[in-house]
Amino acid sequence: CGIVGVVGKPAREVVLNGLKNLEYRGYDSAGIYLNDLQGNEYLTKAVGRISNLEEKLTPDEEGLVGIGHTRWATHGKPTVDNAHPHVSEDGRFYLVHNGVIENYAELKEKYLQDVDFKSTTDTEVVVQLVDKIAREKNLDAFSAFKEALKLVRGSYAFLLVDNTQPDHIFIAKNKSPMMLGIGDGFNIIASDAISVLDQTKTFIDLQDGDVADVTKDNVVIETIDGEKVERKPHTLDIDPNAASKGTYEFYMLKEIDEQPAVMRRLSQDYFDGDDVKVDPAIVDAMAQSDRIYILAAGTSYHAGLVGKNIIEEYADIPVEVGLASEFGYHFPKLSKKPFFIFLSQSGETADSRVVLKQVNERNLPSLTMTNVEGSTLSREATYTMLLEAGPEIAVASTKAYTAQIAVQAILAKAVGEKKNLEKAKNFDLKNQFALAAEGMQELVDGKEKIDELAKKYLSTTRNAFYLGRGVDYAVALEGALKLKEVSYIETEGFAAAELKHGTIALIEKGTPVITLINDPATADLTRGNIQEVESRGANVMTFVAKDFAREGDDVVLPQIDYYLSPLVTAIPAQLIAYYASKNKGLDVDKPRNLAKSVTVE
Ligand code: G6P
Repeated sequence: CGIVGVVGKPAREVVLNGLKNLEYRGYDSAGIYLNDLQGNEYLTKAVGRISNLEEKLTPDEEGLVGIGHTRWATHGKPTVDNAHPHVSEDGRFYLVHNGVIENYAELKEKYLQDVDFKSTTDTEVVVQLVDKIAREKNLDAFSAFKEALKLVRGSYAFLLVDNTQPDHIFIAKNKSPMMLGIGDGFNIIASDAISVLDQTKTFIDLQDGDVADVTKDNVVIETIDGEKVERKPHTLDIDPNAASKGTYEFYMLKEIDEQPAVMRRLSQDYFDGDDVKVDPAIVDAMAQSDRIYILAAGTSYHAGLVGKNIIEEYADIPVEVGLASEFGYHFPKLSKKPFFIFLSQSGETADSRVVLKQVNERNLPSLTMTNVEGSTLSREATYTMLLEAGPEIAVASTKAYTAQIAVQAILAKAVGEKKNLEKAKNFDLKNQFALAAEGMQELVDGKEKIDELAKKYLSTTRNAFYLGRGVDYAVALEGALKLKEVSYIETEGFAAAELKHGTIALIEKGTPVITLINDPATADLTRGNIQEVESRGANVMTFVAKDFAREGDDVVLPQIDYYLSPLVTAIPAQLIAYYASKNKGLDVDKPRNLAKSVTVE
């Protein structure tokens, strides 16, 4: 979910714009509360996108204080009643929330039996609780809010307005991201800084446990127990244009196209001449480790599967890759000197945070590779390496995936060199990055060919398969995720040889099968697997490295180091997903039911 609040300037447009920029966090429903400080207040909610909410607002609905929310449903269906802001029974308090209240049922049962609830959300419980405490203990809003928070267990970023003192926004943060933007004569609060960069560049990063009373020219930050807290503002140096769509119809294509530039940026920033340049503390810590644990979710997990191959090859350390959500509750038996790498585009994924918290409790070293400087996973890990991919807005991750692979390769080489390994020293990574950037460019320039493949094979199919071996298997999993998440074609990624051990039963006449071939050890064997599905009627598309390409292959991939080949294979895999979705007329950037940054477990 995404939240925005502003006090001290006409709030409607500021909140709506901020919410639009935050739509990547969810778009099931949205709502806004406005108060003009002259006794008028407006609460409007709509199911679906922010644009639906905008359409519902009448011209006179404006305020000098506003809070808004775009929702990714967790507790309760995406209906108008369940959309935020939620309001207390007597109409005094308005609350928006990102996160999950774990003990909401208990709170309801214990304190709020007499309340007539309007929604089935966990959030409404909190606004009713604040109201009840304020009334029964005769407390002002800020005090009642803090009292209520002492009873609340879970993750939250809250914005609260009390219409008896509407020139204040009360906020609280625990385990859900929230930034406080400082303006001249106004203040603004949002789930991320980028969403409100057009308003201010000065931000305070709030920490877990912070609560604050925000007015137009003052901010008072405290702990829940009322102790004052000092948090220094800092200036964010991000170009707001980096987050705009320009002439593109969809961010996803813009972000696919940007990948050669990301490779060049990484080449500049992580190299000194031809030598890799990585913080020596990170290299030392990792070189001493006897096993690397990579934790991530979604696309980042798939980048980790590629990274495992690269790190084992060039740094010669065994690597285990885990889904954060599984690992967090069932730690495997760890090696003696583990080193943890968290891969996360957003740096906010709750599933990954659960693991990192335990890693910190055990005092073990950790590194977060993320695209977002100052993000939670970055702050909480021992070390950070930035992906430098620039803001990624499309829900389906593209350029962050290839950047994660590239940054893992940089680290692998640095650690391998530190360990004096010939393989690492001879690995001309700078040159490989240049080849990858060139190869990516060639592939994005040839995107029409991929559009044709999508039109020919993917326009009516219900399902599809991706096959590959070695690193191509890892890319097959990502290619399948990409295709299914944006086009809704049910797609499975398979180790090419494993398909015949069962799932081949699903191959029928016309079933699309995309096959990836970069692995020298198995190129011929994979050709055999193609035969098996073709003879059962499949429509096979082949994406094949130049050295193994044959007449009739659909996409010839520029030849680069086998371990890095996912950098180029990813491009047609991303493009075919993009076109399959676009050709069906779907909203490529915002597939149904998804959110880009999932800050709940
Ligand atoms: C969400 C997104 C995925 C993403 C995953 C991990 O589910 O929809 O695209 O891969 O989270 O996100 P992270 O920011 O940790 O890489």
